[in-house]
Amino acid sequence: MNKEEQQANSGTKLNPPFTDKDSIRVSVLSEALPYIQRFANKRIVIKYGGSAMVDKTLQNAVLRDIALLSSVGVQIVVVHGGGPEINQWLEKLGIKPIFLDGLRITDTETMDVVEMVLVGRVNKQIVSGINNHGSLAVGLCGIDAGLIEARTLGGGSHGLVGEVAKVNTKLLTPLLDEGYVPVISSVANSHDGRSHNINADTVAGELAAALGAEKLILLTDTPGILKNENDPSSLIEKIRLSEARELIDQKIVKEGMRPKVECCIRSLAQGVNAAHIIDGRTPHALLLEVFTDSGIGTMVMGRG
Ligand code: ARG
Repeated sequence: MNKEEQQANSGTKLNPPFTDKDSIRVSVLSEALPYIQRFANKRIVIKYGGSAMVDKTLQNAVLRDIALLSSVGVQIVVVHGGGPEINQWLEKLGIKPIFLDGLRITDTETMDVVEMVLVGRVNKQIVSGINNHGSLAVGLCGIDAGLIEARTLGGGSHGLVGEVAKVNTKLLTPLLDEGYVPVISSVANSHDGRSHNINADTVAGELAAALGAEKLILLTDTPGILKNENDPSSLIEKIRLSEARELIDQKIVKEGMRPKVECCIRSLAQGVNAAHIIDGRTPHALLLEVFTDSGIGTMVMGRG
């Protein structure tokens, strides 16, 4: 009788060479299988912003999640905002912020800084982070290959703040088909060639629609849509598009959450399958949302 047979006969349990943590890890991987199969070769547009852009650990987790999603064949497009870097540079350069009705006025000088910081620095940091995790990212902004054309918002009352007038995703298709991750700054030219700063959620939503994306995912600093804004346990996990509209009408969705939900609604109405509002303050929120059954935030379903 060899040692193992002796142990089996004596009723002593063999010490497995793997730990409980390993078991959890493989069961999570196994739970992910149907989603990996379902989302392979599909497009997911991720709006990257908030705390997940500021905190180094969170940042690393997001970029690693993006590399993982891309490595299993999901076609990822990242759209990013500026984070606090724009303000830091405006301050360093002694440019005083001017506000109207709580919104920053983007004059030409401010726009120069926005463009330099967003396109030159923030964008390249994200690209480099994804590259470091072994996927290849390409940094772009709305100006490249006419990806986005801006229209000056509200007749110019806030300066060079724009909305999306046109989208041309021709450049993105070959990049995505080759497995690159396009990382896009929300800066775009108006038809007369002036750079505008556009809200990154809006850009992500419009790109998702134009790309026929499977999902739009907004990384935010909230758990998702809450029934009661002061109670994080009142999270609405899954709703239909029509219910999302009702929540706005009933003013359950209001203030800062409203434009986010409206952006989800617009992309869903244009054919995106699902829009997710998730908490970027939770490490690996992206993987939790995409690869588990229950997800982590609010999923708004377009069809069915
Ligand atoms: N992982 C699945 C998906 O991405 C389900 C996510 C469910 N999320 C939620 N917040 N209820 O489609």
